Amino acid sequence: MSRSRIVVGISGGIAAYKSCILIRLLRKAGADVVAVPTPAALEMIGKTTLEALTGNRVHVRTSEAADQVTHVRHAQEADAIVVAPATANTLAKTRWGIADNLLLNTLLAARCPVVMAPAMHTEMWTNPATVENVAVLRSRGIDVLDVGVGQLTGKDAGPGRMLEPEAIAEHVLATVARTRDLQGRHVVVSAGGTREPLDPVRFLGNRSSGRFGVELAREARSRGAEVTLVAANVEASVLERAGGTRLVRVESARDMLEAMEREASGADIVVMCAAVADYRPVERLDVKRKKTGEDLAVRLVENPDILAALARDRRKEGRLVVGFAAETGDETASALEYGIAKARRKGADLLVVNEVGERLGFGDVDTAVAIVADDGTVVREAEGSKSRMARVIFDAIRERM
Ligand code: C5P
Repeated sequence: MSRSRIVVGISGGIAAYKSCILIRLLRKAGADVVAVPTPAALEMIGKTTLEALTGNRVHVRTSEAADQVTHVRHAQEADAIVVAPATANTLAKTRWGIADNLLLNTLLAARCPVVMAPAMHTEMWTNPATVENVAVLRSRGIDVLDVGVGQLTGKDAGPGRMLEPEAIAEHVLATVARTRDLQGRHVVVSAGGTREPLDPVRFLGNRSSGRFGVELAREARSRGAEVTLVAANVEASVLERAGGTRLVRVESARDMLEAMEREASGADIVVMCAAVADYRPVERLDVKRKKTGEDLAVRLVENPDILAALARDRRKEGRLVVGFAAETGDETASALEYGIAKARRKGADLLVVNEVGERLGFGDVDTAVAIVADDGTVVREAEGSKSRMARVIFDAIRERM
């Protein structure tokens, strides 16, 4: 495997001295490191130190070595960028896309994973401006780490310390490993909600937006997999984020069964994230149903269970199958307890249980998941944006492979 290249961005906080240790640790782990300090960082540590530690030239301004378009080259060649320390100023500028130094230009041009390790005084860290900037950056998939609590510059103490270089290095190396850990694998993800036609214009459907499935497809792509997304009624604006995946569009549960059986043969990992209707109308009228003034009863018949079918043959076909269970709790049991019972019953390798409600779990909102193995053990619990949860889910899948 080729050597990974990591850009270490350094902004102007006192914690900048610790980025020297971070560079040492990354190099010790075998990475090729390029340091990109901001002008303010160079008031804290010297360019010579950074060049000696990385063994690479250090540039600060976009105008230096302009013929080499350094920021674009750094961004294109990097397997990951870590900004440590990330000051409140650099976080804010990154959020707004401001690019008045080489590091900010590099961040703006980056397509690789970006990790930011904030360091600032407590007042600045808890300021609503910073809180909002961090939330926006995280929602865009930038991995803004938490801060440590303890001694700050001067006499102050509290939240705002940069995490220790060892913790940052470990995190960045795991991030880089994730960019390749599904290389050569074929992943099939289903997303969205099926529509079961009543007549040419009406259907029985559900609230699934397809966002979670799209985030899963995206995550699998970013880890190097070849991805097929089987999408049931997912809006184009949502599908946009799945760029680079092979797209198969379906409408009903039976369409999806057919597509999944076809696509899953030869796949290494199948994730059934779609909300598949359990029932469909027995009859689909060829013409629009007329109003009669009478009550109307629609007879429903059960749909095939796609997940169960894929899980049944999984060993023989040599694939790992993951299901989803959107659960609600009641007086008898919690959402998780229902999920654990379902994990035992379904026979998928892993079942991702998430609690849903009218405003919970659907659309563009944070979610909480518990990942349950087929023997009912909870292997992971996590909470956050759907893109973060997608990462957690593929971490669990990797562990299981
Ligand atoms: O049993 P329940 O519908 O809650 O299970 C949800 C899981 O089963 C999801 O992974 C969903 O994609 C899958 N499923 C399926 N075929 C159905 C119903 C659900 O594959 N007919």
